[in-house]
Amino acid sequence: MNAILEIEAQAFPKTAYSKSTFLNYAGRFPDSFFVLDTNEGIAGYIIIDLEGHIHSTAVKPAFRRKGFGTKLFTHAAAWAPKGPWLEVRSRNSGAIAFYRAMGMTLLGKIPGYYGDDDALILILDQGKESHEI
Ligand SMILES: CC(C)(COP(=O)(O)OP(=O)(O)OC[C@H]1O[C@@H](n2cnc3c(N)ncnc32)[C@H](O)[C@@H]1OP(=O)(O)O)[C@@H](O)C(=O)NCCC(=O)NCCS
Repeated sequence: MNAILEIEAQAFPKTAYSKSTFLNYAGRFPDSFFVLDTNEGIAGYIIIDLEGHIHSTAVKPAFRRKGFGTKLFTHAAAWAPKGPWLEVRSRNSGAIAFYRAMGMTLLGKIPGYYGDDDALILILDQGKESHEI
């Protein structure tokens, strides 16, 4: 848990999820809160639900651009019967570039979703049963 909290704090300095939020996620999604462990420690995590909604993902800064985010994403995408889809801050250009590299496309935009930023809704069309939002 501490490794996840550390990665979270590094990934989202202003909006990091708390320990209780992660415990809540672990309780709600015990089969799809995936943590990637490597010989050099925990690289990152991804949380997805059965609707294919990716709730969060992050890779430790020192492990980025080495394909770990892709590993987590493809694992989660294969696990979920639908999607995946997610919201991302419109100003999170690094994450948007990553999701585009994963093949995701823009489904819509929610102005002011984060208060100080809009949300982009991205989806990966894998030809699975369409999700209902
Ligand atoms: C988004 C994130 C999970 C990507 O993890 P990662 O392990 O670096 O991703 P990968 O190494 O698998 O990247 C795959 C491809 O995505 C693209 N990509 C990833 N990060 C990128 C960035 N910051 N800028 C531009 N393109 C990027 C590249 O095409 C990359 O391939 P390349 O390295 O061969 O050029 C990671 O940057 C992160 O934790 N960010 C902070 C948390 C965050 O914003 N999470 C998403 C919230 S919705």
